[in-house]
Amino acid sequence: MNDLQTVGFARYDYMKELAYDGIESDYDALLKYFEDLPKDDYAVGLNRYRRYSRALVLPTSKTIEWLPNIEKNGSARAAYFQGKFNPEHPGDYREFPAIDEDILDNKLLQKIIIADYEKTFWNAEDTIMPIHVGVHFVKLSVEEKDDVAVSSPNSLHQDGEPFTFAHLIERYNVDGGTNAIGIPEVRHKLPEETEEGQLHDIFEITQPLESYGVNDKKVSHYVSPITRGPLDESGRRSVILIDYQLTVVAEMEE
Ligand SMILES: [Fe+2]
Repeated sequence: MNDLQTVGFARYDYMKELAYDGIESDYDALLKYFEDLPKDDYAVGLNRYRRYSRALVLPTSKTIEWLPNIEKNGSARAAYFQGKFNPEHPGDYREFPAIDEDILDNKLLQKIIIADYEKTFWNAEDTIMPIHVGVHFVKLSVEEKDDVAVSSPNSLHQDGEPFTFAHLIERYNVDGGTNAIGIPEVRHKLPEETEEGQLHDIFEITQPLESYGVNDKKVSHYVSPITRGPLDESGRRSVILIDYQLTVVAEMEE
């Protein structure tokens, strides 16, 4: 049993764990790609930038199969929703600019996806199914002295997907961005509103590929807003978030 099973979350150092010849140049390619992520249309004024793509991890070969994008006004976008789109819950459906193909081929990104996948666990009857993977590239950026950039949602919460992993790409000249992991019952609260013993851990990820994973049913999680750090220049916090969920089987009643 690992910490993800017993406690519900775990921290990792993927620069060490994944070390291979060429990891630095693959990391540099990801870092450079974060320089001009598009603004997140769903977070107007929140200084958040984002791209997103979806894949399957196939259980036999453990290979990654990227799902197709939607073309809209000449740009490739990836849909973000759980299972079938439900018009009664339009809020469940979003689409984001997709991650470019050369980055989807990045060996480090693929190694991260598989390393996370291998830490997840499922019921025996589910392990024969492909696992759906959502890959979010998210940058919070603070240009001016009083800027604040906020993660979503801005309280302790559970994601709904069984597992989510976060991998730091860059943290530069920022204050805040502090992670908290709590018991499920403190969801919707801020860490400072919780009582003694309700938080498992408070920490910051600061090093390239410093990572953590959460087992969503067992814990709630949070990351605090960022502001500019001590230097008189812009600051940023860039992470790759990866969620893992089962293949959704359609209901048979129609
Ligand atoms: Fe989350």
